[in-house]
Amino acid sequence: MPQSVRTAVFPVAGRGTRFLPATKASPKEMLPIVDKPLIQYAVEEAIAAGANKLVFVTGSSKRAIEDHFDTDPELESALVAADKLDQLALIRNIVPKGVTCIYIRQGEPLGLGHAVLCARPAVGDEPFFVHLADDLIDGNPGCLLQLRHQHESHGSSVVAVETIPMGDSSNYGIVALDEADENRISLIVEKPQPNDAPSNLAVVGRYLLSHEIFDKLETTQRGAGGEIQLTDAIADMLDESPVYAHAFTGDRYDCGSKLGYLQATVAYGLKHSDTATSFAKYLHDRDD
Ligand code: UTP
Repeated sequence: MPQSVRTAVFPVAGRGTRFLPATKASPKEMLPIVDKPLIQYAVEEAIAAGANKLVFVTGSSKRAIEDHFDTDPELESALVAADKLDQLALIRNIVPKGVTCIYIRQGEPLGLGHAVLCARPAVGDEPFFVHLADDLIDGNPGCLLQLRHQHESHGSSVVAVETIPMGDSSNYGIVALDEADENRISLIVEKPQPNDAPSNLAVVGRYLLSHEIFDKLETTQRGAGGEIQLTDAIADMLDESPVYAHAFTGDRYDCGSKLGYLQATVAYGLKHSDTATSFAKYLHDRDD
């Protein structure tokens, strides 16, 4: 039986330059989709997948994330006094009892791989999830739970992948698969040009990794963009420790980009009980 996965790591220390000026003083992970910040969708997905230890790797301008997951007795009292009990329910128990939040600072934004390595003391020798909150995935079950189910069947690391247009390969880690072996990854390359890409299967922001990745990250040199890349550490691990690709079911929105963020807002606005009908009417009337 594979070890259970109890820890989810949320690297939230990137500067979000594609979303400036919005991300100058506030984290991109706090951008709301309708009424909930991206990082709350992320935490809910991780808890639904069984995580009870949430490790946030934060940087400068990220205090709002800690505040969001903390209790706010003053606001709670004000909502009770105003008899706004529905709103009170929305802010209470965002993190349920029994779930612990740990915050670790990444001193310098040296890359995603470095951010994951910063979480090592909080993760220990167990498999763990990595969730990039700006990749919002609307899936049922959630994408991390899909990864956990894969892990339960083979006990190895597993990353979520999606087919992308070949021309977009330079924005992603791209994998080649050994299809004879349940989609085991045979090659992974960070941000290759389309001519060099081994396939059009891109890694998206969900991973379930063996703790062995940490030893690899300790020695990973700066790669694409001058950053310490998680992809390069995974590449280093492939021969010793299998890593599988899972083509997740669900819709992904790259909320680190303006277009993806707007697409997510429309999709979730059309589903949210407060807005679905009126927003659909608004969009319909605009098209006329
Ligand atoms: P991105 O590639 O989206 O970079 O990082 P970014 O800085 O957040 O955004 P742009 O490209 O400048 O607009 C992928 C994920 O890795 C985290 C980010 O927070 C994001 O979740 N990250 C990246 C870190 O935590 N630390 C880093 O040093 C770099």
